[in-house]
Amino acid sequence: MNNKINNQRRNFLKTTGITAAVAVSYPSFLRAANSGAINKASANFQADVEIELSMDVTKVQIFKGSKTRIWKVQGKVLKGSPSIVNNLTGTYLAPTLHLQKGQKVRIYLKNNLPAESILHWHGLHVPSEMDGNPMYAINHGETYIYEFEILNRAGTYWYHSHAHGVTAKQVYSGMAGFFIVSDKEEQAINLPKDQYDLPLVIQDRSFDSNNQLKYSNNMMQRMQGFLGDQIMINGQPDFVLPVENRSYRLRLLNGSNSRIYKLAWDDGSPVTVIGTDGGLLESPETIPYVMLAPAQRRELWVDFSDKAIGTELTMRSIPFKGASMHGGMMGGRGGMGGGMMGGRGGMGMGRMSGSSLPAGGDYPVLKVKVVKKAKSNDSLPSRLTSIKPLKAKDAANSTNPRTIALSMGHMSALLNGRSYKMNDIRPDEVIPVNSLQLMEFDNNGRGSGMGMMMAMPHPMHLHGEQFQIIKREISSGSEDAYASVSKGLVDNGWHDTSLVMSGEKVTFLKPFNDFKGIFMYHCHNLEHEDLGMMRDYLIK
Ligand code: C2O
Ligand code: CU
Ligand code: CU
Repeated sequence: MNNKINNQRRNFLKTTGITAAVAVSYPSFLRAANSGAINKASANFQADVEIELSMDVTKVQIFKGSKTRIWKVQGKVLKGSPSIVNNLTGTYLAPTLHLQKGQKVRIYLKNNLPAESILHWHGLHVPSEMDGNPMYAINHGETYIYEFEILNRAGTYWYHSHAHGVTAKQVYSGMAGFFIVSDKEEQAINLPKDQYDLPLVIQDRSFDSNNQLKYSNNMMQRMQGFLGDQIMINGQPDFVLPVENRSYRLRLLNGSNSRIYKLAWDDGSPVTVIGTDGGLLESPETIPYVMLAPAQRRELWVDFSDKAIGTELTMRSIPFKGASMHGGMMGGRGGMGGGMMGGRGGMGMGRMSGSSLPAGGDYPVLKVKVVKKAKSNDSLPSRLTSIKPLKAKDAANSTNPRTIALSMGHMSALLNGRSYKMNDIRPDEVIPVNSLQLMEFDNNGRGSGMGMMMAMPHPMHLHGEQFQIIKREISSGSEDAYASVSKGLVDNGWHDTSLVMSGEKVTFLKPFNDFKGIFMYHCHNLEHEDLGMMRDYLIK
């Protein structure tokens, strides 16, 4: 892999011990010598598919009246079937990409933005230099060439900007899209296909009276995470999904910056989940509601065949506790409750964030209308696939889990008491390649010492291979909030992001196979990520 320039940048960062704040301006230093591609296509990588993605500032008609200024990714297939890239019109969303397991893909990413940026393939198992780490951000006028083979099993993955310190704002402005992988095993299962297989991204946005996106990042906003006033589905306001009276596969992605959804059908029907972040479950799970934290995917199987034409249904986000930031003296185990921000499990800053849709509140998300009689139907298979369970005894550190302690303090959001810094790998952040690791997210507020702490849920994400969740433990004082979400947590299957409620510890097993190099772990509340709740692992 030819990555001279990027290695130079990495070496430069290493030798100078440059700080992250300085590093972000470093690429302009590169630009003088390199107009155009920052790295080269390698001759020995025989691409099955070649795609060009460009990132531009543009305007789209989302509402009547003024067009909305957005940052848009647009795609073009240079080699392969044109159906690989679905450019969506009338929305800020990036194109939906459809790829097959085993395909070798080359992507030319062109930055026409007035800012540095880079795209990350969320959930995909790709080499470190192809993963969209912020250290590979490119400037206006530059091109980054990605080359990787699709190793993941079939599933609903996605991609988004991962530029240092401005991920939240860039994703909010439009830079996120679906990356859907299919494979032979999935194609052999009798699930709804084509127009009955729908990716649906849920996001919240705020617009001003001139139809322009509103985003504020004052400290309150950054601590809580951005909460918009309006729910958008596939980048559309007031979205109604027209369906036939048959079964559908709905691939839900929470592409919101910070909002957590507790999704339930308003007619009281249970929710049938067939897939998670890393593809299909072994068998469908029927639960009263499904939790969907930022970056998570849940695939639903929904059958409208008993519904009369004209029936309208709504999937709502229904109330849950502990959705937003609440404070307390966390010196004691589990906190003392109360505190200045409203008691544990209270609405806390959700109310203060100014969103008309408070975190953990009750509001409609997805409307569906049965408009047409179906000619055929698919029934729900009782078995979907088989998943080999990972075993703790096979972990390289089976008696000594790696802890990722989550904490929030005064104007900070930390992992193991540390804030993000480029090129700052600590000894406990080095992981041997081709090992299985026993790990835990610990949201008990330890990690930055004693004193005034803010507690809230965090959607925790690791780059690279998908993991398996093996255990959740909840500390005393946090049971109520946990009980209000626990039936909607789907822990079977493969995951790259887990909701970690306040007072909760989630234990999981993650393989680190094939690729050496830097891979990130971070909170996917994008405001927290930008605030520094992100670190790098070095796999070696
Ligand atoms: Cu969607 Cu670093 O991730
Ligand atoms: Cu990711
Ligand atoms: Cu967080």
